[in-house]
Amino acid sequence: MLTGALVDRLRTLADEYRRWEELDRRGIPRRQRILFHGPPGCGKTSAAEAVANEIGLPLVVVRIDAVVSSYLGETASNLHRIFEFVGQGSWVLLFDEFDALGKARDDPTEHGEIKRVITAFLQMLDAFRGPSLLIAATNHEHLLDPALWRRFDDVLEFPRATVHQSRRLLRQRLRAVKHHGLEIDTSASRMKGKPHAAIEKVAWDAVRFAVLDDREAVEQRDLDRAITDALARPW
Ligand SMILES: Nc1ncnc2c1ncn2[C@@H]1O[C@H](COP(=O)(O)OP(=O)(O)OP(=O)(O)O)[C@@H](O)[C@H]1O
Ligand SMILES: [Mg+2]
Repeated sequence: MLTGALVDRLRTLADEYRRWEELDRRGIPRRQRILFHGPPGCGKTSAAEAVANEIGLPLVVVRIDAVVSSYLGETASNLHRIFEFVGQGSWVLLFDEFDALGKARDDPTEHGEIKRVITAFLQMLDAFRGPSLLIAATNHEHLLDPALWRRFDDVLEFPRATVHQSRRLLRQRLRAVKHHGLEIDTSASRMKGKPHAAIEKVAWDAVRFAVLDDREAVEQRDLDRAITDALARPW
């Protein structure tokens, strides 16, 4: 579950989607192609799911790394087939791990081919119309071709958690379990600048430690241990 200002921005996207026809009639451009970018675990995929849910459309996820993978030469026609399929219905289309296109571009042996793929992709993006909403997600925005950024009608950033967000997320995730004497504020400060996914894991770990220790309530020592673990690993 997502929280905060981001939820409002996503809700606006969904509200807007419902009024696309009205926007069309008034000659106001829709936001139909959206780029989500930010570090891992900060809610890009979850947000695409939330938007699809809010709009009431099925989410179609296309893993670009899988499309690009072993037979680069087939990538453009794979992409064509995907766009053709998507054109047949109304969906939220998520191009996840979108930076795979950029990664392939940096491979010197594939240089010519990936250029053709990106050009083809840009054309498909430009031609993208109809009732579907397209979202592309990346956590390596520096790998994206500048020409790609321009193709998106809007760009939403998913930053790491602030202390405030970290506090709220911890509280929210621990709401449903018994706990006592938790120093949420201090714990949240320790998690500042970490991805939301890390904070979510801390909450689950703390609960798990208490359960495995046959205690009814989560205590600060559980949170401390969970935070120490979370800070010791890469995110
Ligand atoms: N802003 C947020 N608020 C609350 N929970 C969040 C937030 N962002 C992420 N989470 C939680 O973290 C977990 C991972 O998030 P998600 O998979 O959406 O991240 P992502 O940005 O797509 O990461 P990646 O770049 O690795 O694909 C989810 O379980 C989600 O509930
Ligand atoms: Mg993701």
